[in-house]
Amino acid sequence: MSAEPEKPGVSDIRQAARLSVAPMMDWTDRHCRALHRALSREALLYTEMVTAAALVRGGAVHLLEHAPQEHPVALQLGGSDAAELAQAARLGAGAGYDEINLNVGCPSDRVQSGSFGAVLMKSPDLVAECCAAMIAAAPVEVTVKCRIGVDDQRPEEVLPDFLARVSKAGVRRFAIHARMAWLDGLSPKENRDVPPLDYPLVRAMKAEFPHLHLSVNGGIKSLDAAEAFLAAGMDGVMVGRAAYHQPADILCAADRRIFGATGPDSAAEGAARAMLPYIEAHLAAGGRLHQVTRHMLGLFAGRPGARGWRRTLSEGATRPGAGPELVEAALGEVTSLAAE
Ligand SMILES: Cc1cc2nc3c(=O)[nH]c(=O)nc-3n(C[C@H](O)[C@H](O)[C@H](O)COP(=O)(O)O)c2cc1C
Repeated sequence: MSAEPEKPGVSDIRQAARLSVAPMMDWTDRHCRALHRALSREALLYTEMVTAAALVRGGAVHLLEHAPQEHPVALQLGGSDAAELAQAARLGAGAGYDEINLNVGCPSDRVQSGSFGAVLMKSPDLVAECCAAMIAAAPVEVTVKCRIGVDDQRPEEVLPDFLARVSKAGVRRFAIHARMAWLDGLSPKENRDVPPLDYPLVRAMKAEFPHLHLSVNGGIKSLDAAEAFLAAGMDGVMVGRAAYHQPADILCAADRRIFGATGPDSAAEGAARAMLPYIEAHLAAGGRLHQVTRHMLGLFAGRPGARGWRRTLSEGATRPGAGPELVEAALGEVTSLAAE
């Protein structure tokens, strides 16, 4: 169906999108992404959402900072003004991001009042217009993360219509959070749990739009579950909270199991050690230890010593002068128990 040439790097990033870590505000900052990259070489990582207005009107280009090791990494933008999104996409691509993603899923009040996020499910033509402008402006792939519908919409009608209209504008890859957002009455947190998941609808979209690259998101808690979606024909799986709270469970074996890499799986302990030079550089640049270690608390979740690891880091990391030796001490909690 699509005869237009692909932008450079698109096939690589589509491969990486077989498994991605979802954009999560306040969570998937660059320190978190450094940890996730220490666990998986291959998985696609997303930034937190950055609003186009902050970049373009506010000049907050520091929000684009990221490290070369993070690739493949996608910048998620929020907004609904095509010209502003185009400019933000250009800035993002210029800063080196491999993909620009538009947020059509976030249900928070603040975002609703700015008329973007999930409420844009009601304006597919506006989303298409925004995406066309972003595609024209940015030399990297433009993708969309959406819901299956909002409020009183009927997902089985709205979602295919949304995908058809937005893909006509040139978007070839979507991540679909497989539940509605109920904007009236539910908090953002409730909107991640209360509306029921509808995986069959997302799978049906793959059958209806075989030329699109579709990732399923929402409630996927293990690598087994991710593999099952891929085996059932989905192109990609996006994991949010489980990747944050139990990063080793989701990411240690991902390169082998999802991407067919050879070589040993990564390990939580190795990732913790790999973070030590990163932490030293962060502290040397004036940063604080807890800014990095707060994302590492779940690294040993479900393993012997996890509680001691978590306690050592959370009690000590905010103390003035705390440094990498605290991470070594926390590792002692894990390794001493593992040796028993
Ligand atoms: C703390 C938090 C912040 C989030 N921030 C964003 C965001 O900035 N952009 C976005 O598209 N989704 C955001 N989400 C939604 C996730 O990307 C994902 O769609 C959702 O958590 C469902 O996937 P999961 O069940 O695997 O967590 C956020 C989720 C959480 C838990």
